[in-house]
Amino acid sequence: MSTTINDIDYGPLAQLLGKWVGNKGQDNAPDAQGNPDKTAFTDEITFTPAGSAENAEEQNLVSIKYHHVVRKLKNGHIFHDQIGHWIYEKSTNVIMHSLSIPRGVCLLAGGIYQETNGKSLFNVSANADSQEYGIVQSPFMFKKAKTKTFTMNLSVDGDELHYHETMLLHIYGKDFEHTDQSTLLRVKYD
Ligand code: HEM
Repeated sequence: MSTTINDIDYGPLAQLLGKWVGNKGQDNAPDAQGNPDKTAFTDEITFTPAGSAENAEEQNLVSIKYHHVVRKLKNGHIFHDQIGHWIYEKSTNVIMHSLSIPRGVCLLAGGIYQETNGKSLFNVSANADSQEYGIVQSPFMFKKAKTKTFTMNLSVDGDELHYHETMLLHIYGKDFEHTDQSTLLRVKYD
């Protein structure tokens, strides 16, 4: 498979391009008492090319952007919507994942692209205390439902994509491990 589109080589990010759908999602989020509330979900992610960028005449990046829509398995209602970019630097194998969720939370997570046993691994993390791979949140969220850390392990094997993400929250006066995972299949390439 060529990783070049319109003269831009997207490297490992090219493996993500297209539309993916899944019906095996598992969400673990806090209920109103701060106890685990588990919800099965279906989700779809569409990744499209977003071009290249040069920073300070030195750093050369390529990126793709995505839209992730998550629906409750039981009734099809949307309960999570997320947009973002995956960014890659060829000379260092650095990957970055910027995302925004409509709760007043944005972040930039970073890591190193890896391949093992035929699988491509996009593992990234961010920490609210970091000024580099950090988390930005509204005054309300910072005070009442702070996202302290974010880690995401995303792997691709051909037309199968799996992700597992953990958001360590501080909500209702205690820490809570909010997790989401899903396996999706590619249904469309462009
Ligand atoms: C597949 C991805 C995700 C799903 C399905 C999901 C779903 C949920 C659900 C159901 C809640 C409980 C509150 C409610 O009923 O509205 C929640 C809370 C929360 N989520 Fe997520 N979430 C996802 C990803 C994320 C990510 C990536 C972040 C941050 C980086 C995040 C941050 C939060 C925060 C801060 C809360 C606490 C708000 C509250 O419960 O009052 N979530 N999420």
